Amino acid sequence: MRDTSPTETDPLFRALDLGALQLPNRVLMAPLTRSRAAQPGDVPTELNARYYAQRASAGLIFTEATQVSPQGKGYAYTPGIHSAEQVAGWREVTEAVHANGGRIALQLWHVGRMSHVDFHGGEAPVAPSAIDAGAHIFLGGETGFAPTSTPRALSREEIPGVVDQYARGAELAKQAGFDGVEIHGANAYLIHQFLADGSNHRDDDYGGSVTKRIRFAVEVAEAVAAVWGPERVGMRLSPGLGSIGGVSESELLPTYGALVTELSRVGLAYLDIVEYFGAPAERPAEPGEVHRLIRERFDGAYLANGGFLADSARRAIDSGRADGVLFGSTFLANPDLPERFRRGAALNAPQRETFFGGDAKGYTDYPALSWAE
Ligand SMILES: Cc1cc2nc3c(=O)[nH]c(=O)nc-3n(C[C@H](O)[C@H](O)[C@H](O)COP(=O)(O)O)c2cc1C
Repeated sequence: MRDTSPTETDPLFRALDLGALQLPNRVLMAPLTRSRAAQPGDVPTELNARYYAQRASAGLIFTEATQVSPQGKGYAYTPGIHSAEQVAGWREVTEAVHANGGRIALQLWHVGRMSHVDFHGGEAPVAPSAIDAGAHIFLGGETGFAPTSTPRALSREEIPGVVDQYARGAELAKQAGFDGVEIHGANAYLIHQFLADGSNHRDDDYGGSVTKRIRFAVEVAEAVAAVWGPERVGMRLSPGLGSIGGVSESELLPTYGALVTELSRVGLAYLDIVEYFGAPAERPAEPGEVHRLIRERFDGAYLANGGFLADSARRAIDSGRADGVLFGSTFLANPDLPERFRRGAALNAPQRETFFGGDAKGYTDYPALSWAE
């Protein structure tokens, strides 16, 4: 292993204590859906294990979003964490990453209304309220992309059972040998749908006021922390970035201020904040007001994501505004991203046409640097 002592001058290669995990560097792999799980059954494969093992030099790998239940599924070929076969498949992944000296956390996912009746035997997907996302999702096969189906509102009585789906996913992730879990609270999926007033019109104790809208997210965090211990759990949030899934949020500062105060009380190890979607060249140089508020109110680590490259990540860490940075499309295309950053080497360009679905092409065939270079 490289020198990661306190005398390390490159901020990207300073070691980081992330709750119970000791990370040798701060170049983290963002969760990336690749839609290559075996069918039927949404089971991780040996090819998936090879892909993750290639990226084991990340300070920490976050897996692709992984549905905690059949109800939580909204895209074709995404993996699950609710069956014995899936646990066995994931075990091969975690063993391969550990054999290469890496660490890996599973992203726990429930899509809520970002789904289609075809995934649910003709029944409507579930959401806080019966409001269509107005988005498109990937059905696979000959259909390809299709409009989302209008969801039905979860009944008050059903909600504890949905919270429990995350807890069971967390339990199975433990059995599969992960080092921790990340709760997907971002990108217009179920938790975000509860947080946002545009998608949550409930008038019971899960909607209306800020306190009620954050309740579902907090209960999921408590349930997952009860399984793993909070020091191995974090949550991904994307405040104000829900437009892809038709989620609109007013009261951004009160909502996220209250939420992260509660997540701090629960003791989560980190927050993974998607600050921006888009080209690195257009990324705002400074964090937004909501990001600064989250940093201030949350006691654990702040991990930043969205449009970062090596130097912008170094600045974010060096200034103290972030503890680590997640890289998405750059890590997808560069299995040895930390080493490339260390050497200032050129980067492979991501090939968008192979992002979702398919085989090894555009998945495990991105070249690593030759060690002789
Ligand atoms: C192909 C692809 C798949 C993605 N899948 C997920 C996912 O499963 N879960 C998630 O939270 N974000 C997902 N994202 C978002 C990324 O984690 C990240 O937030 C985004 O790419 C911005 O970071 P970047 O600019 O470093 O790429 C995905 C992004 C891409 C490009």
